[in-house]
Amino acid sequence: MDFGELYRKYDAELRPLCARLRGIYHRMQQQGYRAVFGDVEGEVLYMLLREARPRRVFEISPAAGFSTNYLLAALTANQTGELHSFELLREINGRPTADVIRSNLVPDLDTSRWTLHLGDARETVPAVAGEVDFALLDSSHEEWFARWYVETVFPRVRGWVMVQDIAFHDRIEPSGEARFVWDWAGREQGPLTMVGHVEQSVLHSGVRRGFAERRALECNSLLFQLPQTGRAALPTLNLSPDERIRQAEECVLRQDATGADRHLTEVMDILMTYPWRTNRHRLFFKTGQLYVRLGEPLQAERCFRRAVGAVLGGEPAQRAKGLRELWRLTRRQKLWRLAAEVGVMMVQDWVWNHRSWRIKR
Ligand SMILES: C[S@@+](CC[C@H](N)C(=O)[O-])C[C@H]1O[C@@H](n2cnc3c(N)ncnc32)[C@H](O)[C@@H]1O
Repeated sequence: MDFGELYRKYDAELRPLCARLRGIYHRMQQQGYRAVFGDVEGEVLYMLLREARPRRVFEISPAAGFSTNYLLAALTANQTGELHSFELLREINGRPTADVIRSNLVPDLDTSRWTLHLGDARETVPAVAGEVDFALLDSSHEEWFARWYVETVFPRVRGWVMVQDIAFHDRIEPSGEARFVWDWAGREQGPLTMVGHVEQSVLHSGVRRGFAERRALECNSLLFQLPQTGRAALPTLNLSPDERIRQAEECVLRQDATGADRHLTEVMDILMTYPWRTNRHRLFFKTGQLYVRLGEPLQAERCFRRAVGAVLGGEPAQRAKGLRELWRLTRRQKLWRLAAEVGVMMVQDWVWNHRSWRIKR
């Protein structure tokens, strides 16, 4: 699949869609709804649905409906196909889930194509009989859930599957679901695409330059077709930053400063190349702590400052949470000056969030 070519083909559809979704994304954030679907992943989803023109699409799960937008926008443009969304929560923030999702959809989507099934997907999915032409999995990250969908949903699919939260372009997600799906893919040996690779190539080629940013987190989805045809080896993965930090800690204990620095430098490389990760501030902070132990205060300070910067650049809810976390960490580490600075930032952030001092139209 040549995604560069697809970006060129659907450019005129994707640009306005992304611009409208940016407004929806900000509104969802303000109203306290989760909108956890990466930008390139959403775009890839849209383009594949436009190309494949599936009759029946499964979305497990929509949460407050951000990913539903990409799927339903493609079906609306196709003028064919039905979308079944399966969500566990009957209410989100005290409102019926169906109302929440509807209120988070781009206004002119064809909602007659959409059915929401509420409850545990393991019970609601079997109630919708027949083949599935396209499946998006973005739900529970537990191993037992992955086992369920691999064994019962995958055999029904005759087309594309996108599974979120499995592996970045170079490393696996730390979850039971990710490990199970990665092992399954290794046994199957069918060709698969890591959306992280697509993301890298389209970022470098510039085909999506100027697309409105919604949630520019690094992609960690897998994409493949079922039933699988052909064989291909799985890409080799590197260590995750968390694992590198763990190994750096071991090196510090062994007084192997060179080994520790090698791991920590790799962590910094990953964090600087892919700035938008939710736990980035924590990783910067841990890296800083280890540099303190290695006797490199200036490098440590750089890491601590980057931890603060990562938090300040986040969305309001994550910003408040991240600042609280840094406040705790800095005091525990007796970094008093930094703790005082973070304390001031917390107050400023509280004022910004709780008074109507936001930037007005
Ligand atoms: C990561 S969120 C989905 C994000 C969504 N795709 C978006 O674009 O924002 C995962 C969702 O899976 C739902 N979920 C978890 N376990 C489930 C289950 N057993 N059946 C159905 N939905 C489930 C959760 O309630 C949550 O809303």
